[in-house]
Amino acid sequence: MDSIKQAIDLARATEGGARRAAVSVPDPARPGLHDPQFRQVRLSEADLEQTRIVAHGVGTPNGRYYDMLRAQVLQEMDQNSWQFLAVTSPTVACGKTVTSCNLAMSVARLPERSVLLVDMDMRKPMVANYLGLESDPGIVGVLEERRTLGSALIEASIGPSKLLVLPGEVAASTSSEWMASQTMATLLQTIKRDFRSRTVIFDLPPMLIGDDVISILPRMDAVILVTGVGTTSVADIKECQKHLKQSNLVRVVVNKVTDIADDYHAYY
Ligand SMILES: Nc1ncnc2c1ncn2[C@@H]1O[C@H](COP(=O)(O)OP(=O)(O)O)[C@@H](O)[C@H]1O
Ligand SMILES: [Mg+2]
Repeated sequence: MDSIKQAIDLARATEGGARRAAVSVPDPARPGLHDPQFRQVRLSEADLEQTRIVAHGVGTPNGRYYDMLRAQVLQEMDQNSWQFLAVTSPTVACGKTVTSCNLAMSVARLPERSVLLVDMDMRKPMVANYLGLESDPGIVGVLEERRTLGSALIEASIGPSKLLVLPGEVAASTSSEWMASQTMATLLQTIKRDFRSRTVIFDLPPMLIGDDVISILPRMDAVILVTGVGTTSVADIKECQKHLKQSNLVRVVVNKVTDIADDYHAYY
């Protein structure tokens, strides 16, 4: 929980101030699979950069932060044979989706790895939007059994890298129920069984807006908490810390850092 303490220190130091740029606070292995049966979409580099998805190529500005986060997270996941990684934040707009997409892209670039990115934020699904994909059909169609999992999955490629994406769909009024449902548990078991070789990254809703995340956390192997400098308060982080006591918190990402970014990053 050292990283929680560090995030609290930074939130305390910057509460009330506006900041921006992504920095990770400290902390993968399987063969890359080609899945020709899924819908295939080629992503546009220019469009990705518009939505701050920068980890698709080596040497992209800011991309190195996600590669560092990737190395830290995968190391810990490998050591523990973990497959499911949850990305959440205390409140909205901290940068969960930007972090999830960049981390997934960064993992996808590793030749011996493969990744599945699941948009599980049914309150505000943005993964498809940020990647430039169609979101219909998405996860709700699968949960409601209108679609098979296979028909909802998209194999997105950029350069030589490929990542598998399960787009999200809005189900704001039922998100909490879905998260706690047996149907969701079964979907997660199916993903675990059918995509055993992949690291699965789940872009979750914020922790403090309902019980959605609390319900799903026991089914996740590891968690990244994304905090937004100037957005996240010390009280928010402490509240999340209470809910994360039983979870494997692998990293706290301090997002939207500007002036203090270099010092802070060096600190980690
Ligand atoms: N490091 C960053 N610097 C500046 N803006 C960012 C950064 N990360 C995310 N944003 C912006 O903040 C907004 C919220 O990000 P998003 O990832 O959608 O948050 P969340 O998924 O937590 O709601 C978006 O407009 C995004 O472009
Ligand atoms: Mg989001």
